[in-house]
Amino acid sequence: MPIKIPQAKKKTEKKASGGRKIPFQSPKGMHDRLPADFLYFDKIEKAIKKVSLFYGFDRLETPLLEDIKLFERGTGLTSEIVQKQMFTVKTKGDGVLALRPEMTPGVVRAYIENGLQYVSNPGKFFYCGPVFRYEQPQHGRFRQFYQVGFEVLNSDDAAYDAQIIIASLKIFEELKLKNVVVKLNTIGCKNCRAAYVKKLKEYYKNKTGDLCRDCAKRYTENPLRLLDCKQEKCQPLKAQAPQTLDFLCAACKAHFKSVLEYLDGGQIPYLIDATLVRGLDYYSRSVFEFFAEGVDFAIGGGGRYDYLSETLGGPKMPAVGSACGVERMIEAMKLQDVHISSKSAYKAFLIYMGDQAKKQGMLLLDEFYKAGIPVKESFAKESLKSQLRLADKEKVDYALILGQREVFEEVILLRDMKSGTQEAIPLKKIVAELKKRI
Ligand code: HAM
Repeated sequence: MPIKIPQAKKKTEKKASGGRKIPFQSPKGMHDRLPADFLYFDKIEKAIKKVSLFYGFDRLETPLLEDIKLFERGTGLTSEIVQKQMFTVKTKGDGVLALRPEMTPGVVRAYIENGLQYVSNPGKFFYCGPVFRYEQPQHGRFRQFYQVGFEVLNSDDAAYDAQIIIASLKIFEELKLKNVVVKLNTIGCKNCRAAYVKKLKEYYKNKTGDLCRDCAKRYTENPLRLLDCKQEKCQPLKAQAPQTLDFLCAACKAHFKSVLEYLDGGQIPYLIDATLVRGLDYYSRSVFEFFAEGVDFAIGGGGRYDYLSETLGGPKMPAVGSACGVERMIEAMKLQDVHISSKSAYKAFLIYMGDQAKKQGMLLLDEFYKAGIPVKESFAKESLKSQLRLADKEKVDYALILGQREVFEEVILLRDMKSGTQEAIPLKKIVAELKKRI
């Protein structure tokens, strides 16, 4: 049976422990990560660490705040993220910093700034952390959310496009997500894309009146994103639009063919979606997104970004990467009833009665710490009954019971929580005894 994780209460229901409402709430679209949520978060972090170890990605972490220009130039002025979704902070001078709305430009900056190309080439990195987008919060869409992702810097090898897709799929596999679909497309390079965009503009030229307001803007600012529109009104035109695949230059064609061959070789199923273009400006060649059965939003996405470094003023540095939305993967896990083990991290529960026992218990916890055995306590509770109830709730295998008499006799009762049997063990031997049993 999957365990039930309590959903966060509606803001209006939030109450202080005394029953009174507190006058503060977490900001709109931002949520507390409660202890029960970490059953999922920890699993996801464990998954990306495991996959990264096997595929050779090292952890890299960039600051939460970056120069706003990094995203204006990197993520791109025509992207919705930069146009509408940045949280900004004015510095004391005239500078403006932005809370990172995504990780990729920061990773590229860090790679170049720290001279990592001399240490790790190609640079293969993974990350996990919060990102911020000023969006209208709705189901699966938050203002602070977490991403885990991979980047391969300084290589244009199609094998890495495939490896990024495979590594992302391995995360979903680790999380036991079923029926994940990879949608894949190529949007060509600078050269072949120009011819395609020209054709696309010609196609839409006399039809702008039939487009939604955003698409009318996209027609002039970033025509490729006309294909990304989800509005009902724009779908018929989108369906008949020219496709990037028909305009690829020989090099892009060969690159895409190679990506597909690597995926086929690894028996990785995918769907080619000619309308997939992604919403960030830096992409070139391969673009992809991941969808899980039961959820109607992408749980991850990425692609190649061969020009990002140069756009930021850095060296020529082809690259490819992907990022997955942690909250969205959790939502998919819940919808798919993925079982999450709720086994306690604690091996035993320390129960005390009286002041002397409490003092002795404090010393004992230190002994367990040194032995690497986590033991839980509840020093704020005094009655045996309520402490036993907590031990039961924690689902530990053993309770360690220390009363005044035990302190006097220098023993402790070791109670097997399943059978209910208990025996007195000399205090000096309890750490070794518990170690033997767990
Ligand atoms: P992205 O598609 O903007 O790509 O975001 C990646 C994933 O983050 C999405 O597929 C989704 O699961 C999650 N996500 C996005 N917005 C939200 C939101 N408001 N609330 C909850 N989850 C969200 C990037 O960020 C690129 N940096 C990916 C990449 C890495 N491309 C190359 N390397």
